Amino acid sequence: MAGIICGTGAYVPSYTMDNDDIAKFVDTSDAWIRERTGVARRHIARQETTVSMASEAGKRALENAGIRAEEIDLILVATISSDVVLPCTACEVQKELGAVYATCFDIGGAACTGFVLAYNTAAAYLTGGIYRTALVIGSESLSNLTNWKDRGTCILFGDGAGAAVMRADERNRYLPVTHSEGVKGAALTCKSRCCGTKEVPEEAYFIQMDGQAVFKFAVRRVPEVIREVLEKNRLVPEDIGLYILHQANRRIVDAVAKRLNEPIEKFPMNLEEYGNTSSASIPILLDELNRAGKLKQGQKLVLAGFGAGLTWGAAVTEWKGS
Ligand code: COA
Repeated sequence: MAGIICGTGAYVPSYTMDNDDIAKFVDTSDAWIRERTGVARRHIARQETTVSMASEAGKRALENAGIRAEEIDLILVATISSDVVLPCTACEVQKELGAVYATCFDIGGAACTGFVLAYNTAAAYLTGGIYRTALVIGSESLSNLTNWKDRGTCILFGDGAGAAVMRADERNRYLPVTHSEGVKGAALTCKSRCCGTKEVPEEAYFIQMDGQAVFKFAVRRVPEVIREVLEKNRLVPEDIGLYILHQANRRIVDAVAKRLNEPIEKFPMNLEEYGNTSSASIPILLDELNRAGKLKQGQKLVLAGFGAGLTWGAAVTEWKGS
């Protein structure tokens, strides 16, 4: 894959809800949530929407890359929680940014693997010479899909958006690895309002999860897919500067680092502040690291996502930066 990231941006709502706020309406505590997940607070959209957050993150990524909206050939938005079905979120972003020459579509349903799949899709177009410049966004308003009466899930999620500008670059030639296992889909579900039956219980329209099954899946599959992607690209762990994992749970990230026998310092985390923002978590983290000057030119990064489907995948990218 010959596409390189040359700018990042993010947007998170200013309104936050900490663990004590959640303990006011479900039977939980700050200590329990911190210990089991590492999450302290999450940002929740009030006036913002998935489209508005995606647009703002995209705008900031363009500024960071020093690229005009008219130069964008492709806009991809990974989301499971858009406020619009039609037109797609990516077309709404195009309108907001004035990216008049871009082809736009959403990568829906890939949930927490969404950004990795959108990155891979954009990279494939860039590698194929079909487009030269892409804007890849993960944006979620998970608070609209959260059952605020279910303490097993409502403690986990948050809202926000992250974006990356990608350019064709022959030097960044790495192959990704992705997997899907539909037979395990029941572990993490959410019905659409289009499901066509009147007999759906109301809670099925919110995210439902077998927490332990998802936890076991993640700690097994993520190290596996990272090893696979390294092998496929003839790399060894020592070649990798940082592992940018989907931010679901601190214990999952800790377990992945341990299973790979890699130092936890190579696994940056920000889930304490944002919770699990699904497709937005990887680009939000990437943007924070970029703006804090923590990414070095030429450094190899592994991006790894996992989630509903079940789906999981990893990609290697060399940091070029803005
Ligand atoms: N506060 C207090 N107690 C809670 C609770 C909460 N928010 N949520 C569940 N509990 C209780 C359970 O009812 C259970 O009580 P019991 O022993 O009396 O039956 C006990 O805590 C243990 O529940 P369990 O589900 O085994 O907890 P856990 O250690 O597996 O932690 C998760 C729950 C959800 C934090 C954990 O399974 C997890 O993080 N899974 C992965 C989820 C994820 O990352 N999903 C997104 C992937 S993209």
